Amino acid sequence: MTASAEWTARDASTVWHPFTQHAQWTGDRPVVVDRAEGPWLIDVDGRRYLDGVSSLWTTTLGHGNPDINAAITAQLAKLDHSTFLGTTHTPGIELSEALVELAPKGDGPPLTKVFYAGDGSSAVEAALKIAYQYSTQTGRSRPKFVRLEHAYHGDTLGAVAVGGHDLFHEAYKPLLLKTIGVSSPGDRALGPDRNAKAIADLRAVMRDEGEQVCAIILEPMIQGAAGMLDYDAAFLRAARELADAHGALLIFDEVATGFGRTGKMWAAEHAGVVPDLLTCGKGITGGYLPLSAVLAAEHVYEAFLTRPGDTTPRTFFHGHTYTANPLCCAAALANLRVMGEQDVIGRAAALGDRLAKLLEPVGSNAGVLEIRQLGTMIGVEVAPVGARTGFAVCQAARERGVWLRPLGDTVVLMPPLTLGEAETDLLVNALAEAIDEVLA
Ligand SMILES: Cc1ncc(COP(=O)(O)O)c(C=O)c1O
Repeated sequence: MTASAEWTARDASTVWHPFTQHAQWTGDRPVVVDRAEGPWLIDVDGRRYLDGVSSLWTTTLGHGNPDINAAITAQLAKLDHSTFLGTTHTPGIELSEALVELAPKGDGPPLTKVFYAGDGSSAVEAALKIAYQYSTQTGRSRPKFVRLEHAYHGDTLGAVAVGGHDLFHEAYKPLLLKTIGVSSPGDRALGPDRNAKAIADLRAVMRDEGEQVCAIILEPMIQGAAGMLDYDAAFLRAARELADAHGALLIFDEVATGFGRTGKMWAAEHAGVVPDLLTCGKGITGGYLPLSAVLAAEHVYEAFLTRPGDTTPRTFFHGHTYTANPLCCAAALANLRVMGEQDVIGRAAALGDRLAKLLEPVGSNAGVLEIRQLGTMIGVEVAPVGARTGFAVCQAARERGVWLRPLGDTVVLMPPLTLGEAETDLLVNALAEAIDEVLA
C-alpha cells in the first residue's frame, strides 16, 4: 500500500473536505501533499505535481519563497498575535499603508481606508454590511443589492445571497437576503452583444429599483468561479455611472483577480474605474496565510464617524478574533515588497501572453469549445463526453505531472505568477495531451 493510499484512508475516516462529494472522494485518489517548493507540490510518496491552479488561486511567487519565509519567521520572533480590537500593531499599520498606496487610481475618490477580514467570503460579508449601514447613515435604508448572474463571492450567507451560481447557491435560497440579479456581460448565452444587453439590464434595474439599492457588487472583468467568463471593461464604466446616478455604492470583488492575476495589480485597472469598496484576499499573503481586506473610499469611512447630536453610534460593529493577525500581515508585506522589487506584475502579464500563444493549438482541438483568458486566469472549456469530463482531463494531466482543478467542464489554469518557461511548457503540453486522451 502506498503512503498516499494509507493517508487517504485515514483522511476519509475523520475529515470532511470543502466542496467535496465524499461518496467519490477516495475513488478520486486525492493527492496527499507533503511539501511544496516553487511551483511544485510533492506528495507523501515523493511524486511531484506542477501547481497549475496556484493552490486555489492563492500562490503568487510560488511555494517556500525565501523572503516570505524570512518575514514570517522574523515576525514570529516578535509578536504572534494581539487583537486589533482596542490595540494595534506595526505590521497591520504598514500593510494598510501599502494597500492604500497600491489601490487602483482613477477619476473617482481614492480608496483610503483598510478593514481587515480573514477569507474572501468574510471580506465580502464586511463589504455588504458596510454598504447597507452606509445607506442608513447617509439618508435612508436601502435594503437591496444588485448582483450579476453567475457571480461567485464566497460561501457565507451574505456572499451566497449576492452570488448567482446555481450549483453552489440553489440549496440555500430560502435563507438569503433579497438581491436583484442582472444579466452577466460574460454570459455567452446572451450572444455577441452580451455586454450591451447586460448594461441595458442593469440600467433598467437601477431605473426601477435604484432607490432601494445600497450597492452593486461584481467581480471586475472576469467571473472566475463561473468558469472564467471574461467581459468588456465598458460594463464596469457603465456600472460606475449607474451607481453614481442612483446613489448606490459600487463594490468590486477582487478576491480572485487582485494581486496581479489578470496581468495588472487589480482588474479594475483594465477599465480605469475605482469602486467605493474593494474586497481582496487569496494572493494578498502570497498564498501563505488567510487574510483578506476591504478597501474603502474616504466618504464611506466618514459616514461611520459619530457626529455631535447623534443618539446612536455610527460604529461598524463587525470584526473577527484574528482580524489583522500579525503573521498574516508580515507575509502580505513581504509578498507585496517582492512583487514590486521583482516586477511580478510585468512578469504575470508576460506569462499571460506566453500562455495565450502556447494555447492557440489547444483551442483548435475539436473537443475544446472555448478558451477564455484574462492575464493568467484561464478557462479551457471542453465538450462533455460523459459525466465529469473536466475532472477526467485534470486526472489525465495529473498522470503527466500537472495538478489542475476544473469548474464543471472548464479546466482552469491559474499558475503562480512567476512560473518559468519550462514549467509553462509542461503545463500546456500536459493539458493538450490530457484533452487528446480524454476526448479521443
Ligand atoms: C471573486 C471571489 N470572491 C470571494 C471568494 C471567496 O473567497 P474565500 O474562499 O477565501 O472565502 C472567491 C473564492 O474563490 C472568489 O473567487
